[in-house]
Amino acid sequence: MGTSTAEKMKMLKLLFILSCLLFASSAHGTIAKHYIVYMGENSLPNSEAVINYNHEMLAQVTGGVEKARSAVVHHYHKSFRGFSAMLTPEEANRLSKNHSVVSVFESTSHPLHTTRSWNFMLEQVQEGSFGKGLFTKLRERIYGPKHDVIVGHFDSGVWPESSSFSDQGLGPVPDYFRGQCTAGDGFPSNICNRKIIGARYYYQGYELENGLLQNSGRPFYRSARDDNNHGTHTASIAVGAPVVKTKIMNSLNSQVIVGGAPLARLSIYKVCWFGKCSCADLLKAYDDAVWDNVDVISLSAGPAKAVNYLEDCIAIGAYHAFRSNIVVVASAGNDEQNGVLARDGSVANVAPWMITVGASTVDREFVNSVTLGNNEAFQAHGTSKLTLQGSHLLVSGSYCHKNSLKNRATTAKIVVCFVQTPGDNRTDKSEVVRQAGGVGMILVETVDLSQTISDNYVVPTVIIGQEEARQIEDYIKKTKTPFASISPVQTELHIKPSPKMAYFSSKGPNAITPDIIKPDLIAPGLNIMAAIPHDQVAMYSGTSMAAPHVAAILHDNTGNPIQSGNRSATPFDLGSGHLEPDLALSPGLVYDFNENDLIDFLCYHTQNYNKLDKMVGKSVQCKPRPVPPYQLNYPTIAISHLKGPISVSRTVTFVASRESSQLYRVSIKQPEGVAVMVEPQFLDFSRGTKLNYTVHFTPGSSSRVPNYVFGSITWSDGKQHQVRSAIAVRVVA
Ligand SMILES: *[C@@H]1O[C@H](CO)[C@@H](O)[C@H](O)[C@H]1NC(C)=O
Ligand SMILES: *[C@@H]1O[C@H](CO)[C@@H](O)[C@H](O)[C@H]1NC(C)=O
Ligand SMILES: *[C@@H]1O[C@H](CO)[C@@H](O)[C@H](O)[C@H]1NC(C)=O
Ligand SMILES: *[C@@H]1O[C@H](CO)[C@@H](O)[C@H](O)[C@H]1NC(C)=O
Repeated sequence: MGTSTAEKMKMLKLLFILSCLLFASSAHGTIAKHYIVYMGENSLPNSEAVINYNHEMLAQVTGGVEKARSAVVHHYHKSFRGFSAMLTPEEANRLSKNHSVVSVFESTSHPLHTTRSWNFMLEQVQEGSFGKGLFTKLRERIYGPKHDVIVGHFDSGVWPESSSFSDQGLGPVPDYFRGQCTAGDGFPSNICNRKIIGARYYYQGYELENGLLQNSGRPFYRSARDDNNHGTHTASIAVGAPVVKTKIMNSLNSQVIVGGAPLARLSIYKVCWFGKCSCADLLKAYDDAVWDNVDVISLSAGPAKAVNYLEDCIAIGAYHAFRSNIVVVASAGNDEQNGVLARDGSVANVAPWMITVGASTVDREFVNSVTLGNNEAFQAHGTSKLTLQGSHLLVSGSYCHKNSLKNRATTAKIVVCFVQTPGDNRTDKSEVVRQAGGVGMILVETVDLSQTISDNYVVPTVIIGQEEARQIEDYIKKTKTPFASISPVQTELHIKPSPKMAYFSSKGPNAITPDIIKPDLIAPGLNIMAAIPHDQVAMYSGTSMAAPHVAAILHDNTGNPIQSGNRSATPFDLGSGHLEPDLALSPGLVYDFNENDLIDFLCYHTQNYNKLDKMVGKSVQCKPRPVPPYQLNYPTIAISHLKGPISVSRTVTFVASRESSQLYRVSIKQPEGVAVMVEPQFLDFSRGTKLNYTVHFTPGSSSRVPNYVFGSITWSDGKQHQVRSAIAVRVVA
């Protein structure tokens, strides 16, 4: 444990804050909490000036510079301005009135966006290294010769020895990178290589909000080393080098596991501990990552529901990243608490300056079968690696809750267990079966069977639907000695239709700005196989797994960020729908917007000029009539309140090669009950690379549509480029 003096000082300070916190709460009867004081763009000359200013300002409410110093947890001074501190609600309120402050809000810990459990199965990686040949091939096929892309990875750290993070075949660390490799528990500073080029970690906010790490009773590393699996998994999805795995899930061929951008670099920002990420720590990671000069930030966590932008730490950090031409890709969230399908309006991370990614299925399922004693057979699903030979007696075990099998004769039998609510712990049921002497489990699911999530069952398990369950229960009732056999799992590929939305993927409309469609696109997020610590491979599900797919391909076939005109694409340059890596490399047309467009957008949300001035770092002139958010040059169009005719303008930028067709023609898929007309119907980009068009929306005279209706407009060059914009409209009386 090479803990540095600086580290020890930090820890002592934290303990001091914790004890002050106890003292403060008993002395004044008000409990100090961890607050973020956000002060916008950094206009001070250096970090020392920021820190002094922070202490002075805080001293005014805490009654002294010494108290202020001990209350501060993080200073934000590199990429934007602010601090986090332990404050009473009254102190926080007083600070929020200071003119230098944009917002003051409590720092809370957001969950990582994986599904209900750490669903995985372990496989030892067979072979971790490759000859130069495979790298060269991959590079040529996917990227061309240049490949310097740095992904800033905000998660639970990584397992640096994983074969996925081998730096074989990679050139020197890009010279524009300014980050560092911070040493910590089990993570010497020389462990970084040309793949993992930077590492930092943040735990102060987590500990104040959740208790000291060492009090968790769980193993952890106070360093950028992953102690949770999630970070290694998402990092290898994004940028993992190829590793060969043999025969996953009884598949016939060995498989190569490889990230979306195997030649990209990683800069690690460990902000999540035991599945939770503190807002104040996240902001500190942004403060560093923007300064470090990463190209993309990938983030698979977020609030349970959308939060007002100026009090949303993820949105605030992403705003300052956007201004530095850094794309933030965030997961849309998983909503599976109260039902089978995610609820409308559940999407999180909805700021238009981020790319929000939902989860889809891939064209792969894991199937097996159940054969009853009467020779009736059913197709089943599942991911259990354990196998059960031969036929066994069969018994119904109902929900298989703890202690519920006591009075049933389950020894040496296959037990039928029902999922009661979608949130049920399936692994627990298999544990109950095992403890009751059962040899296998037939699990009856409530969700779409094709979307069975891998679980770590402790007895051989297959999964069936309600209809099959009825037949099996019927067979058990009518038969004196019912028995069954279950087959080992097989991997089935080329499943149609696919992709489908993963049932848990959080949905729009956008609860903060309904006139901006979120999520922006979907990418694979169900049963995604990728690396975890100790050089093993696991399957996880969640929008967490989808976001890194997008972070990985935001670059073109030369390894550079996708260009928009003569500059790098911003988050708003990309279309929507399912991620199509090949097409995304050559979109044809892009929708672009810049800082000034965002000022119009922010003016609509906040009429407080002082706050806007601080946030954008200059004097803001809002237009006399606020610009509605549907006028933001977004690649999709949403109108949440269509009362009468509305016209929406868009500007498209031609980014195809000069040899491609320059003439685009529009086609419209009309939403039901709303007339959509586009003007002009042709765009000739030989006249200029940026052209405008207008979309006229008119509610039909007879339209009484209470809900959103959907359509699209598509610009096509008649050849390889089809640029589609989704439309969502709600007519109101
Ligand atoms: C805000 O804080 C600064 C820095 O401490 C201070 O000079 C100023 O008087 C404060 N303003 C208000 C209105 O409290
Ligand atoms: C489910 O139960 C297992 C033990 O049987 C436990 O390890 C796991 O954490 C539980 N998962 C959840 C999401 O509670
Ligand atoms: C990029 O293009 C804009 C016009 O679209 C132009 O004003 C600017 O000078 C160009 N920048 C460079 C570096 O070529
Ligand atoms: C296109 O629209 C933008 C923004 O509304 C405007 O500034 C620009 O002048 C328009 N361009 C043309 C060619 O009409």
